[in-house]
Amino acid sequence: MIITIDGPVASGKTTVGKLLAKRLIFDYLYSGFLYRSIAYALLEHTNHTINTFSTLSISDLDSVVEQVALEYCFMADGNCQIRIHDGVIQEDLLMTPLIDRAASMLGLNNNVRTILTDVQRKLAHERNVIVDGRDAGTIVFPHAEYKFFLTASLDVRIQRYIKRQKKIGRMYTQEEAKKIIIERDTRDGRWLSIPNLSDNLISIDTSNMTQDQLVDFILNNYITKHN
Ligand code: DC
Repeated sequence: MIITIDGPVASGKTTVGKLLAKRLIFDYLYSGFLYRSIAYALLEHTNHTINTFSTLSISDLDSVVEQVALEYCFMADGNCQIRIHDGVIQEDLLMTPLIDRAASMLGLNNNVRTILTDVQRKLAHERNVIVDGRDAGTIVFPHAEYKFFLTASLDVRIQRYIKRQKKIGRMYTQEEAKKIIIERDTRDGRWLSIPNLSDNLISIDTSNMTQDQLVDFILNNYITKHN
């Protein structure tokens, strides 16, 4: 079974996705980590810079994707790591402001989206999996059993962003966080699933819910009910 959770940055999808995966005993596929891994591999192991990401061809990308062990984008116990050649790259190296921006810029390249869509489908094949994405419910897995789209007010997202960044040692003011979120929304917005009836996306405003309330809400109102 495939369950997709899409939404903009700091909408709560990653935290909720991980919690849901634990409760349902599903695998959890963090698609942002795929984009981050490839961005990191390009910057560290090729001559590409963020400015040349838009020129990447399928064959440029194939050779990079081959070097990265992307099956590690399934998280176990909240930890994620990848291997490039034989070296292990820990999650924190992929969660830096540079890689935030690089992954977001990489997502603008259609060849990247085509390849990583294919990678996600292969990884999810014959698994029970929660996919955390942007376009998971519309482009990557349009036939997923359950497709959620999480939103939250800008103010709430700013607070969540600041809190999450603080946990990994980065301090942001309200203004800085707002600027980053708006910038990411503008860029990522091109790929974000848009809730409408034909997509069957279940849209949930998470602004006034705690993470646990949201997980219970999803389980009680949707998934458990149907199983
Ligand atoms: O989910 P995240 O914020 O860790 O993702 C980092 C960036 O990767 C995001 O800003 C845009 C890109 N991305 C994407 O284009 N499509 C996805 N399915 C996931 C991430």
